Amino acid sequence: MVTLKLPAEIERLRENNRIVAYILEKLKEKVKPGVTTLQLNRQAEDLVRKKGVKAAFKGYQGYPYALCTSVNEEVVHGMPSGRELQEGDIISIDFGVFHQGYYGDAAITVPVGRISPEAQLLIKVTEASLYDAINQARAGNRLGDISAAVQRRVEAAGFSVVRDYVGHGIGKQLHEEPQIPNYGTAGKGIELKAGMVLAIEPMVNAGACEVAVRENGWTVVTRDHKYSAHYEHSVAITEDGPCILSQLRGKPFDQ
Ligand code: MF3
Ligand code: CO
Repeated sequence: MVTLKLPAEIERLRENNRIVAYILEKLKEKVKPGVTTLQLNRQAEDLVRKKGVKAAFKGYQGYPYALCTSVNEEVVHGMPSGRELQEGDIISIDFGVFHQGYYGDAAITVPVGRISPEAQLLIKVTEASLYDAINQARAGNRLGDISAAVQRRVEAAGFSVVRDYVGHGIGKQLHEEPQIPNYGTAGKGIELKAGMVLAIEPMVNAGACEVAVRENGWTVVTRDHKYSAHYEHSVAITEDGPCILSQLRGKPFDQ
């Protein structure tokens, strides 16, 4: 069942997601060659404590960290470690909070120093595919409109969409219905309604779409070892169109 959120619930989700956006912004500033992903995780833990919220992923199905840090060929669910970031790497940082009964969830991909033109394009296209998708998050549209928008942007650039992991509804649970694939057919799927809150999260591979999970049981990697990027926003569907919750104050959605 897809739950519709009341205005007061959307305000809670907005508050949480704003904290997520703030912390992601702080972490982005820390990304540079020589920094370890565990240092980023420690920074996230400090900021979580300062903000008086809880890290949503820590303890989720036994996941031990506040952050998912997925470097280069890692797609999602990369585990923070002593690995030092190097010039030319890209790192996807996925982060969520829980506060006052509600979740927040977003992700960004950040370059480490100077990166290749292809990696730059991968990041740009992945972010653009998220904004294309958000622009379809309108009452009266179908879920497939969101999915198809991601797929169209990604495949037009010659990249591929990961099919084994999907976006999701978000609210009192981190993962609610509906599942939101990053590929699909416009005009198909459930009808979108005002009050739905969706975590839309394109995972985009520079090469082929196939992925595998490492022995640690978490880290998803590309089978061809090419780079992968990931962006995510939590978005409320309102009568006035899509509203990105996981952003800092004062940035209206404007496609
Ligand atoms: N944004 C990811 C998701 O929605 C993060 C979950 S990671 C986990 O699935 F560690 F919590 F599983
Ligand atoms: Co998510």
